[in-house]
Amino acid sequence: MPPRPLLSRRSGALSGTVRVPGDKSISHRALMFGALALGETRIEGLLTGEDVLRTADALRALGAGIERQADGSWIARGRGVGGLAEPDRVLDMGNSGTAARLLMGLVATHPFTTIFTGDASLTKRPMARVTTPLSTMGASFVLRSGGRLPGAVVGTSMPVPISYRLPVASAQVKSAILLAGLNTPGRTTVIEPEPTRDHTERMLRHFGAEVVVEPTEDGALAATVTGEASLTARDLRVPSDPSSAAFPTVAALIRPGSVITLPGVGINPRRTGLYDTLIEMGADIAFTNRREEAGEPVADLVVRAGTLTGVEVPPERAPSMIDEYPILAIAAACAQGRTLMRGIGELRVKESDRLAMIVAGLQACGVAVEFGEDWLAVQGTGAPPRGGATVATAMDHRIAMSFLVLGSASDEPVRVDDGAFIDTSFPGFVTLMNGLGTAIGED
Ligand code: S3P
Repeated sequence: MPPRPLLSRRSGALSGTVRVPGDKSISHRALMFGALALGETRIEGLLTGEDVLRTADALRALGAGIERQADGSWIARGRGVGGLAEPDRVLDMGNSGTAARLLMGLVATHPFTTIFTGDASLTKRPMARVTTPLSTMGASFVLRSGGRLPGAVVGTSMPVPISYRLPVASAQVKSAILLAGLNTPGRTTVIEPEPTRDHTERMLRHFGAEVVVEPTEDGALAATVTGEASLTARDLRVPSDPSSAAFPTVAALIRPGSVITLPGVGINPRRTGLYDTLIEMGADIAFTNRREEAGEPVADLVVRAGTLTGVEVPPERAPSMIDEYPILAIAAACAQGRTLMRGIGELRVKESDRLAMIVAGLQACGVAVEFGEDWLAVQGTGAPPRGGATVATAMDHRIAMSFLVLGSASDEPVRVDDGAFIDTSFPGFVTLMNGLGTAIGED
């Protein structure tokens, strides 16, 4: 893919109503559960970003019928739990850690071999976090050094249920194990000391599986799936992605006079840590027309610009906003005072080392930062940052979008070296943002 440099200039006030694309986490899962259910699942609002298209393609290679309809909805024709077939080609998951890790769980309890690879970002990311528990269920793995892709999963024909305590707060690891547990006799349990996004648990119930979530004696949460489950096709609508809505939200907050509306955004409490933090910083964000769609809470967001003040973000909030620290750092750079983010070591193993990329980008734009292995402090002055730099994005969509938002408020334009990866999660980002009033263009 050739690099796509983009330039963002300071804009006037943002205004308008825009629908942000579908939730990435929910979209991956909707296709996967549709592929396992008996019957035909119709999915409205599916994200058509590159990452989700990789999942669709992989599921086709595993024998499921996945089709996009002329009206934009998608149909999944499932093969039943345990009914996937050995793919006759390597599954290339592109940039997507979620696709790779969840599908590794899914095939771990199917009696065939699947070979996974990914792009230059994904093949640097750690996979041992899923292969370690999945090995104890009976699957075998051959990975490159450091537990990295490309690699092969040799699925087991005699899976063993496990009870596994997550050593890192990760919904991907939890979901990989629960997906493996679907085709395993008995009950498979994942214990999470810190609650992570629960889309897998909610959607499994929507498709008719038995999933129980209960507190443990030491204050953790145990999610248990009963295996050899039968999933029944169910229609669903994917809410707009709160992680994508975060970009227009922060852009509106930092441009005086802005008022925007974002309808149908997912407000699952395990995903809304950024919004809680912004409200603590003084942001005016209203959640109107609250409702539930396919087991997920949804609302229309109305965002009004205002003055933001630095805050301390507690480490226990990290799982509920893990993808939002890059854009929070931009809000913090435009706020008055210091914003301290602790317990964010996981940022170092995302699509890029996000902590390092945020630090480098903010420093290049004249923003004062301090940081350590798992923390970051951003010093805002209350005045717009200088900007005027080219920011390296390291194949990371959220770094690119975050710094384009910074450019919409900074004194001098901000250039990102490559905006091509934005399509992994937010196709149409530039058009949508410019429709609200930003000035982002090809460079
Ligand atoms: C995701 C979980 C998170 C998040 C990722 C999507 C998911 O990753 O960063 O973008 O869909 O389960 P971890 O589980 O590795 O924290």
